[in-house]
Amino acid sequence: IRERKRKEGVNLLELAASYFRERLKMPEAQVAREYLSNRGLSSEVLADFGIGYAPDGWEGLKRHLAERGIPESVQVEYGLLVHREESGRTYDRFRDRVMFPIRDVRGRTIAFGGRVLGDAKPKYLNSPETPVFHKGRELYGLYEARQANARLERLLIVEGYMDVVALAQFGIRNAVATLGTATSEEHLARLFRVVDEVVFCFDGDRAGRQAAARALETVLPLMIDGRQARFLFLPEGEDPDSLVRREGCEAFTDRITCASPLSEFLFDQAARGRDLARIEDRERYASQVLGVIGKLPEGVLRTLLLGELSRRTGVDESRFTALMDRAEPKTT
Ligand code: CTP
Ligand code: MN
Ligand code: MN
Ligand code: MN
Ligand code: MN
Repeated sequence: IRERKRKEGVNLLELAASYFRERLKMPEAQVAREYLSNRGLSSEVLADFGIGYAPDGWEGLKRHLAERGIPESVQVEYGLLVHREESGRTYDRFRDRVMFPIRDVRGRTIAFGGRVLGDAKPKYLNSPETPVFHKGRELYGLYEARQANARLERLLIVEGYMDVVALAQFGIRNAVATLGTATSEEHLARLFRVVDEVVFCFDGDRAGRQAAARALETVLPLMIDGRQARFLFLPEGEDPDSLVRREGCEAFTDRITCASPLSEFLFDQAARGRDLARIEDRERYASQVLGVIGKLPEGVLRTLLLGELSRRTGVDESRFTALMDRAEPKTT
């Protein structure tokens, strides 16, 4: 029954995806097409990502699906229709928006993100949780990245749909985005099944820097078997989409090459705003770094980082090891 349900949902969502793609070609989508072309996207990239348009109006999709025998209750269950309790009425969730299908690893559409053409709020509207869509687990662009690359060396983790698509437009076809949520351990575990290296590349703003700090914490327990995590910081006010359009592919690729390894980010972050000539600052610096190291699995990386901390603070490594053993009694 579970599998039948999944198929039912996926068929319905594929029908919706092709409906949105078809609508994008219609005269009514003129403004949407201009919007996408102003954002620098070619029809080839639009096709690769299956981008479409949800027309204005309350029941275009609802009627389209009803004609194909799909009950309203099912359309509601998969997040395409909104059901108003008070009035008992149903209407299309996505109206007058550019539509990004979110696909699973096998390329099946499982949800949508829709962007307004102007400055209205909310800027992005996403499918709700449904039987086939769990927001905290999925990554936008992973299917497309695997399709575009016979062998993937690394994946870039960015914030938004447009970042993924704009990078692809410039030939950087290995970006994925979490769907408006923080990067979870589940996201990362999923990525590390595909590649050994992830590069975090969040927006050059306060929120983006906070996201990077949180991503560091989240990735620590997964740092085994020579896996790499690096951090790419963008200039203030830029995101990958705006930057790649301004600088082009080569400059952006250089930035990826130069992204800070986890170790560098860790020491830099702890040193920020501190005067390491002062003992008190050095104490906080060492405590912060130790706290991070303590979350790493035992292994070469952990050992090397401890050695580095010892060199940077002039404190014997065995002292730190003793402190760490006391700070975190072994739990099972
Ligand atoms: N997001 C969301 N709902 C919102 C705003 C943002 O789900 N109301 C998610 C989207 O996945 C979005 C990502 O958070 O792509 C990053 O947000 P933001 O940086 O604000 O948007 P951009 O991706 O830069 O969007 P654009 O360039 O289209 O303005
Ligand atoms: Mn569930
Ligand atoms: Mn942002
Ligand atoms: Mn952004
Ligand atoms: Mn943007």
